[in-house]
Amino acid sequence: MGRPDHVVFLRRSFSKMDQLATPFLTGPRLCRVLAGVVPRGTDGVVVELGAGPGVLAEPIRSRLGPNARYLAVEIDSELVAHLRAHKPWLEVVQGDVADLERILDEAGIDRVDAFVSTLPWAVFPHALRDKVMDVIARRLTPNGAMSMIITWMALPNRVRELRTLLDRHFDEVVETATEWRNPPPARTFLCRRPLPRATSLDEHGTRSAS
Ligand SMILES: C[S@@+](CC[C@H](N)C(=O)[O-])C[C@H]1O[C@@H](n2cnc3c(N)ncnc32)[C@H](O)[C@@H]1O
Repeated sequence: MGRPDHVVFLRRSFSKMDQLATPFLTGPRLCRVLAGVVPRGTDGVVVELGAGPGVLAEPIRSRLGPNARYLAVEIDSELVAHLRAHKPWLEVVQGDVADLERILDEAGIDRVDAFVSTLPWAVFPHALRDKVMDVIARRLTPNGAMSMIITWMALPNRVRELRTLLDRHFDEVVETATEWRNPPPARTFLCRRPLPRATSLDEHGTRSAS
């Protein structure tokens, strides 16, 4: 992670704090945890959501096989320009994850083996959050996985809602311990085996389709 990444991100955070959610970039340790859902040596498809200036690009790239495809989605035009200038090998789409289905279709991507997300899920409007999660779960391969980061700045009730949403969309959701050295402290959710249809859990923990 280079100094230019921090500089451009900090500058964008002054005008786009609602989208960036934090002036800090994810630290190297959590980048490695998030990238860990990418199977080592994969020749599959990896999609990163909210790529920012590209702090996850190398940790993800280091896990890819020679025939893998790695697409990075980012909404902010200045961060997209930075990505294209500093990581010319990376396939970058400037777009809003609200249009994730269309972005994948236009990129010719049907199935995704891993989504890596540092989107500000905890501040997303509910409708957007639900819509994007639905697309992720539907587009993942049966053994696919998704990772996301949650910082200590997220409101506890929003994190609880998010956890419920993840439990509806994935067979396994692992919440990692807080990484105190990350600015700000943060943890990750590592989600595996998407459920074919979103389900809800009743009070006995039994799943039913919604
Ligand atoms: C918390 S920052 C993470 C940046 C970087 N990936 C990292 O880990 O430090 C969130 C990123 O998601 C992007 N983002 C926010 N809303 C988005 C949306 N609706 N569609 C695509 N990207 C979005 C922001 O522009 C920002 O780059």
